[in-house]
Amino acid sequence: MPSNLSTVFTAAAALLIPYGPWADVWAYRGVVAPTPFDACPQVDSLSPRVHSILQARLEGLYSAGDFKSTVHEKLGGAVRVATESYDDMLPVGEDPRWDVFQDFHLFLESSFPMVYSSLRVTKVNTYGLVFHWQGSEPLLKPLLLAAHQDVVPVDPDTAGQWIHPPYSGHYDGTWIWGRGSADDKSDLIAQLIAVDSLIKQGFKPLRTIVLAFGIDEESAGTEGAGRIAVYLEKTYGPNSFAFLLDEGDGYGENVHDGLIFASPAISEKGYFDVKIEVRAAGGHSSIPPRHTTIGVLSQIVVALENTPHEAAFPRSGTAFANAQCAIAHDPKSSLWLKRLARKALTDDASLEELKQFLLKSDPVFDTMLKTTQAVDIIYGGAKVNALPEVATVIVNHRIAEQSSVADVEQHIVQLILPIASRLNMSLHAFGLPPMSNAGHERQIIITDAFGTALEPSPVTPTKPGGPYDLLAGTIKSALETSERYNSTGIIISPSLGLGNTDTRFYWNLTRHIFRYSHYGDRDDYFNGLHTVNEAVRGEAVVEHIRFFTKLILNSDETHLFV
Ligand SMILES: *[C@@H]1O[C@H](CO)[C@@H](O)[C@H](O)[C@H]1NC(C)=O
Ligand SMILES: *[C@@H]1O[C@H](CO)[C@@H](O)[C@H](O)[C@H]1NC(C)=O
Ligand SMILES: *[C@@H]1O[C@H](CO)[C@@H](O)[C@H](O)[C@H]1NC(C)=O
Ligand SMILES: [Zn+2]
Repeated sequence: MPSNLSTVFTAAAALLIPYGPWADVWAYRGVVAPTPFDACPQVDSLSPRVHSILQARLEGLYSAGDFKSTVHEKLGGAVRVATESYDDMLPVGEDPRWDVFQDFHLFLESSFPMVYSSLRVTKVNTYGLVFHWQGSEPLLKPLLLAAHQDVVPVDPDTAGQWIHPPYSGHYDGTWIWGRGSADDKSDLIAQLIAVDSLIKQGFKPLRTIVLAFGIDEESAGTEGAGRIAVYLEKTYGPNSFAFLLDEGDGYGENVHDGLIFASPAISEKGYFDVKIEVRAAGGHSSIPPRHTTIGVLSQIVVALENTPHEAAFPRSGTAFANAQCAIAHDPKSSLWLKRLARKALTDDASLEELKQFLLKSDPVFDTMLKTTQAVDIIYGGAKVNALPEVATVIVNHRIAEQSSVADVEQHIVQLILPIASRLNMSLHAFGLPPMSNAGHERQIIITDAFGTALEPSPVTPTKPGGPYDLLAGTIKSALETSERYNSTGIIISPSLGLGNTDTRFYWNLTRHIFRYSHYGDRDDYFNGLHTVNEAVRGEAVVEHIRFFTKLILNSDETHLFV
């Protein structure tokens, strides 16, 4: 393996695309046209040119010890306001548990007075926050950076397991501790510090910058991002943003050869909670029917689990692009696998062989390619001598990129219809007319459990010359110029988000949506996601600020064809 992959896999040519009166100022940089043989095209690293002096000044500032202490203090302060969001929260104004967001706003106002006095700040639905930094060039679509103010509640039973109290915000010289330190207050605070630092240096953007901070990403999302989305679409119009960056996975360091893989997510799986209820007359259990509602429900659950969804692996899908990058650049992949992946670009039999190989070797891959189903809730029955009148399950689905809510509905109906017919029960599915034995009092009723079905997201284009290249080039540059950089190269690979973020509300605002947080795999989640001992490396937060600063400056001096 060559020691510096990034120079091998990226061509050096910079592409200049003149644009209007700024042709001499803005050069579209970093774009490398994919060759027919490059299954994982890479871009050059991209750092500000017009603003190179400003950029250098900020880099100097960010590496100073007192700046770093300020960063640790600000993130610690943000963590100390326990902005927990709960699944059973009533709307803002009807539930006093939202009041703590007022304290969080006061903390932000006192920590970032320059941001509050220089930017237009809008409160959407009382606690949602939108910061508007007007650019001077109306032809450039604004940039949207998102994060969320809320955190997953701390289970009081686990408070004793925390090395430092969950809302301490304590900095121990390496880690900043507490719920929200990583998810997602570090994104939020890093964005504000980057903007604050740019304001203090006198930077005046050409491209408008908008920051949007929801309040219930960890629960429904409807009170925060749901309302902010409506406000943003009304204010700026549909498809009005150049691109959107929200939280997501970061980058991983390959311990074997020091290669870094960064994986911004360009799409997100869909979501569907399906409730299946079986209803029948009650009665004394000394004269039971052959199958009680619980028995019927059990047959349904067995049928579901025996019939998982098919895995799909189309060449146009994100999983295919992701696999091509991993195989092409992971030094552990065998020559045989590399050849197979190459052949799969055009040959259908090889594509199928590759799919089967990957499904067998990597459970995460299986999850990526399939609509998953998990029977997560079951209840029924009240008394041991009474027949259960109702038995219920709720099945959680994460819908594959190329599938849909309608596909899931069809899958379930096709499985349950024969059971309903065999047992002479009527089937009512998703509000459609009864499908068997209409009018029979023994019923199977299938519905969207909470009315929260979500289609898989649109897939962000990765065509050369667009925002994907700008993001990829910025990630590369932020890593390569870091004091911590100690790698043999960087590969940026598009990925598929398995969970959902606030971006699910923002589809109308831009086709270019990314989910990415600029952390290494050893920087955040001391213990794992949403559990005890959440912590983030102090130095990683500074890297985060460097990344956002570069992203803002690069976006300001790059024309994006969107
Ligand atoms: C099925 O249900 C229908 C409608 O209630 C009823 O007329 C019929 O006798 C039932 N058949 C069986 C085999 O239970
Ligand atoms: C960089 O990585 C090499 C190889 O893993 C290691 O020997 C060296 O100590 C590292 N240097 C730093 C500054 O982390
Ligand atoms: C997106 O636009 C469609 C069509 O105008 C509209 O029905 C929908 O409510 C919008 N979605 C959001 C989240 O605002
Ligand atoms: Zn989050």
